[in-house]
Amino acid sequence: MKEFSTESLVATGQRYYLPVYKPRHVILARGEGSRVWDIEGRDYVDLSAGIAVCGLGHCDPDLVATLTEQAGKLWHTSNVFYSEPPVRLAEELAQASRFAERVFLCNSGTEANEAAIKLARKWASTQGRPPERRVIVTCHGSFHGRTLAAVTATAQPKYQAGYEPLPGGFRHVDFNDLDQLEAAMAGGDACAVLIEPVQGEGGVMPARDGYLAGVRALCDRHDALLALDEIQCGMGRTGPLFAHWGDGVVPDIVTLAKALGGGFPIGALLAGPKVAEAMQFGAHGTTFGGNPLAAAVARVVLRKLSSPEIVANVDRQSRALRDGLAAIDRELNLFAEVRGRGLMLGAVLAPQYAGRAGEILDLAAAEGLLMLQAGPDVLRFVPALNIDDAALAEGLSRLARALRAFGG
Ligand SMILES: Cc1ncc(COP(=O)(O)O)c(C=O)c1O
Repeated sequence: MKEFSTESLVATGQRYYLPVYKPRHVILARGEGSRVWDIEGRDYVDLSAGIAVCGLGHCDPDLVATLTEQAGKLWHTSNVFYSEPPVRLAEELAQASRFAERVFLCNSGTEANEAAIKLARKWASTQGRPPERRVIVTCHGSFHGRTLAAVTATAQPKYQAGYEPLPGGFRHVDFNDLDQLEAAMAGGDACAVLIEPVQGEGGVMPARDGYLAGVRALCDRHDALLALDEIQCGMGRTGPLFAHWGDGVVPDIVTLAKALGGGFPIGALLAGPKVAEAMQFGAHGTTFGGNPLAAAVARVVLRKLSSPEIVANVDRQSRALRDGLAAIDRELNLFAEVRGRGLMLGAVLAPQYAGRAGEILDLAAAEGLLMLQAGPDVLRFVPALNIDDAALAEGLSRLARALRAFGG
């Protein structure tokens, strides 16, 4: 017997939350794998995974066991003392990354990118470059987070409006355009390029073949760092553990968050040899970063998401999802294209439906399907990486019903 109604809890949320979000009027209460239930007992297929966070689905038994075991041992130490889980996690992340020598643990994606921005600047300053030669180049359509520096790196005016004055030292270019990047770096004042290998919030837009290699070459030519934001596209989401592995580049910095904790908040900055010593004692910090609870969970997430079974499942379910979307499109003719990599796919609405992704999400929720948009024109699919055939098939059939209601 529930003790409150959906309406009453929604009303309380509306009364007390700073109204920066507009949650659906559903109160989710419980999850298992790729299924979630609300307080009314309605079930949902989850193709959103908490915005690409729950890579192992909801309440993965190994994560529950690890979290509860760690909860009975030690919750928090601060960075004034060592504890085992974050030390081991740093070692395991560095080794898994194939490039990093050092790791900074924090609590969110924004915080990881803030650390990356600071690290790039600090590295440039240790080289004797004056502040005006510490420009960070980022791409239009990117999303790097919500602190003032991260939102300035995020080259989308809608996230920046009203927060001016924004910090200086950022320059924006079009994604996937090497000529523009070359022009932006020609003055020799750029210390880093920060890029998502697959843009997430900006519409599920993958780097085209050869783009990241071209960016790497420009960074080398102009003595700038290549920093990759893999907060959404990393941790196996596109297939390989790191999205850039398929692009044949070695970055100087990678940021992770979201799926790293499987739903427990954690972020990480991975630093390669060029920058691993640039920040020394006192240069940066965070109270909660490397929290033993988060780190213990993330170690298990890292091990499980690195497994060949997950890589194979991402490939299999990616094809099933693409096939399912193609079948829906043959019937309803709603999409201009389906793009993305692995289990990070975007169905771009045809021009006559532009701006209406939000409506489709409402219809999907009514059919028992949790999904996301990436901007107003793109339906975004980022399910758990261990989603099974049955859940995906059920999700697709609920999506088809929602889209028939939308298009029909
Ligand atoms: C690519 C990317 N970078 C950074 C962030 C910010 O992460 P967080 O919301 O954990 O601060 C996000 C969140 O959507 C993201 O997708």
